[in-house]
Amino acid sequence: MNTFTFHNPTTLHFGQGQLDKLTTEVPKYGKNILLVYGGGSIKANGIYDKVVQLLQGLEATIVELSGVEPNPRLTTVHRGVALCRSNNIDLILAVGGGSVIDCAKAIAVGAKFDGDFWDIATRKAAATGALPLATVLTIAATGSEMNSGSVITNWETQDKLGWGSPYSFPKFSILDPANTTSLPENQTVYGMVDIMSHVFEQYFHHDTNSPVQDGFCETILRTVIDTAPLLLADLNNLEHRATILYSGTMALNGTLSMGIRGDWATHNLEHAVSAVHDIPHGGGLAILFPNWMTHNLDANVGRFKQFAQRVFGIDAAGKSDKQIAEEGIAALRAFFTSIGAPSRLADYNIDESSIELMADKAMIYGDFGNFQKLTRADVVKIYQMSL
Ligand code: NZQ
Ligand code: ZN
Repeated sequence: MNTFTFHNPTTLHFGQGQLDKLTTEVPKYGKNILLVYGGGSIKANGIYDKVVQLLQGLEATIVELSGVEPNPRLTTVHRGVALCRSNNIDLILAVGGGSVIDCAKAIAVGAKFDGDFWDIATRKAAATGALPLATVLTIAATGSEMNSGSVITNWETQDKLGWGSPYSFPKFSILDPANTTSLPENQTVYGMVDIMSHVFEQYFHHDTNSPVQDGFCETILRTVIDTAPLLLADLNNLEHRATILYSGTMALNGTLSMGIRGDWATHNLEHAVSAVHDIPHGGGLAILFPNWMTHNLDANVGRFKQFAQRVFGIDAAGKSDKQIAEEGIAALRAFFTSIGAPSRLADYNIDESSIELMADKAMIYGDFGNFQKLTRADVVKIYQMSL
């Protein structure tokens, strides 16, 4: 286990009725609120009305930034920064999924940066501060509600880049499973794939002394695998929604990375696909992750064997370690397919012709991944396996 320092400053309000916490939390920051949301789901499901009513009860001045895109765009960040500057905003309140929250993080940091936010996303400059940010989460997926990461797309250059800073943790996040029941089946599936993928990124490492971390990871994976079919059969079930919501936060709030170094290559591969083709993040991950595993199997067969046995209960009798590991990967692909996740880039009409461009995008910072460094040739190979 590596030495580590852990700090997560986000206050989590979890469970039914927790939206009311806005009335005690918001006044800590001020009255001028930038309300950031997406394409309208919060208006259709009533969350918008409830939030606005609570804010009006606080006599807050509400400035709105709506229409944040799934895979949020730099142009929207710029609009938000301008609104913050011209309205003397005290608190940015993001109401939505990872895209809305990620955009709000970029706005919060961009508003306190003397320059273009894109310089921070491209690692040319470091964040210098942030406006306070809070979230009301409406989809279990990214973990953005309790981490400092954000992913922004520059559609002009076709770059989708992750960035983070010590300033971009939400001050508080409100997670009510009832706010996720309106999520359609496909988005529910993408979210669960994303949650599992975050665990994979932190589970596949070479450290040999991580029994507690392994147990956390395996528990989250088994929980999502067991809960997914139940939830998909009953999308309004609040207990299953709560289980997945909590899994999503725990999968990427830093807990699983204590003492180990995550891989994150598959996320980089997926962001390059989304940068060029604007596909849902979870859909891309479902296609790519089993192929990343197959490609990297020989880097540490024992790790994949442990995954196969402990997560999918693969029977080891009479089999080599590699066979067990391969059966685990096959079980993962079968599970993704069973919940309706895509399995091929062709499912999004992506063919051979864009592999070189996607590889260029993935290689923006050179070879990547900590489990095994991926070169450009590896990247092309994994995309080809995924066609
Ligand atoms: O835009 P609206 O109308 O709100 O609709 C959204 C959107 O179309 C809809 N939705 C969300 N909550 C809903 C709902 N529809 C009905 N009922 C609800 N309760 O769902 C669609 C997808 O929303 P989005 O926010 O894009 O999904 P997600 O949370 O999966 O976020 C994806 C983005 O996060 C990035 C991804 O790359 C992608 O850009 N990621 C962010 C991370 C982070 N900050 O830590 C890590 C992740 O690995 C990921 O890369
Ligand atoms: Zn993800």
